[in-house]
Amino acid sequence: MNLDLIPESTRAAGLGVLMKGAGLLTRFMPVPQPTLLVGPGSSARLGQSIAGFGHEKVLIVTDATIVRLGLLEPLTQALAAGGTPYAVFDEITPDAPIPLIERGLAAFIEQECDALVAVGGGSAMDAAKAIAAASANPGKSLRQLAGYFKGLHTPAPVYAVPTTAGTGSEVTVAAVIADPQRKSKLVIIDTRLVPKVAALDPNLMTGLPPAITAATGMDALTHAIEAFLGQWATENTDNLALTAVGLIFENLPKVYRDGANLEAREKMALASTYAGMAFTKANVGYVHAIAHQFGGHYHTPHGLANAIVLPQVLRFSAPAVTGRLARLAVRAGLGEEGQNEEALADRFLEGVEALNRGLGIPTTLEALREADIPSLAAAALREAHTGYPVPRYMSKAECEALLRRLLPPKPEDTGASTRAAAGRRRPAARTTESPPARAPAAGRGKDRKKT
Ligand SMILES: NC(=O)c1ccc[n+]([C@@H]2O[C@H](COP(=O)([O-])OP(=O)(O)OC[C@H]3O[C@@H](n4cnc5c(N)ncnc54)[C@H](O)[C@@H]3O)[C@@H](O)[C@H]2O)c1
Ligand SMILES: [Fe+2]
Repeated sequence: MNLDLIPESTRAAGLGVLMKGAGLLTRFMPVPQPTLLVGPGSSARLGQSIAGFGHEKVLIVTDATIVRLGLLEPLTQALAAGGTPYAVFDEITPDAPIPLIERGLAAFIEQECDALVAVGGGSAMDAAKAIAAASANPGKSLRQLAGYFKGLHTPAPVYAVPTTAGTGSEVTVAAVIADPQRKSKLVIIDTRLVPKVAALDPNLMTGLPPAITAATGMDALTHAIEAFLGQWATENTDNLALTAVGLIFENLPKVYRDGANLEAREKMALASTYAGMAFTKANVGYVHAIAHQFGGHYHTPHGLANAIVLPQVLRFSAPAVTGRLARLAVRAGLGEEGQNEEALADRFLEGVEALNRGLGIPTTLEALREADIPSLAAAALREAHTGYPVPRYMSKAECEALLRRLLPPKPEDTGASTRAAAGRRRPAARTTESPPARAPAAGRGKDRKKT
């Protein structure tokens, strides 16, 4: 259906009704949950438990950084001790693109594997899920598998060891991969892609650089907030989302400052998983719809894109969800139950902005160009309005205006006249394409290392 042919006002009303209907369906759709192994050393326990499933050979899908840091070792030692043969595919790069997934698929077939173990962030976990879907459905290309339940055959089992606390992919129905030719992201959605067992092992997260810790943590926060504010929220997803929000506000600043804080790392891993459980049922919203365009177009890391967009979308949605924002404020420790709702909602918006500031997250996106705004807005709204149960309808003009607020300062603004304000100005976003706009925050330089 071409949404552009329908007047904006009709779309606003019609889509609301349509999304509420779709929400009823998802509410009753059973989503499997992985067995969770939690705590220091749990990746070794996962290796031991995989032996019990009697696989012929498993393919470990990971990236070179994870291998170099020795993060595979507890798992591979346990697999070897349990007599499970394995091969390693360690070529994953952030936002794994289609040709890379195809190489992983070739390795899976050549090595005659019958299961996958993803060790890494969302990029490795989603690549493993995509390989699993593609290997079971050889008649379909990855592009053809994108969408809801496009593969007829059941994917090979996936086990997951997240090494970032962000995407929640270890519990979700989704695999997000990049389509470099179309400068976009593809999402394969199937309940059979949910991993069988996931290990949340904080030992593997202590070396995560501060900037990646910050961005991925804000991805988890965005999942929880969007799931809580959307129209598909249920009592169960609310509980998961609220718990995640509380844990993230308390623990993300701690792990950003001190990556070796094992207890806080474990709480962030749990929060990310809870947020993943919430949004796999209640879905996401405009923040993700816009962030996906930044990822596809400018290669902005997913969590960073979400973090930059989140405050703007919250301010836009606020009039429709004041009470809900007030509940988030209480859970985030920013106020007390019973206080004025509007004041609490404001405090939550300010709290998210303050959290971003404390994590060195910029307020604008350096790579964003005025000329790209119309097509980015159109693509974001197409994504949101064909799948996300957003709390307040956004028109194209409103989306474009929102994006304009994320434009980097104009060159003339950065000259002598603004130098005096340098201490107050927050930096523009770094993307994988653009260098830092200021001296990096503590430890931020480390995440520039490419795998
Ligand atoms: N499937 C889902 O439900 C879902 C949800 C949200 C996002 N995503 C997708 O996940 C991807 C992003 O995943 P991500 O944010 O976890 O980042 P990522 O997987 O791209 O990893 C980012 C960087 O962190 C490094 N890294 C990971 N763990 C490390 C560790 N423990 N120590 C040191 N370095 C480490 C990696 O090598 C990589 O360079 C995006 O493609 C996004 O679209 C998927
Ligand atoms: Fe996300």
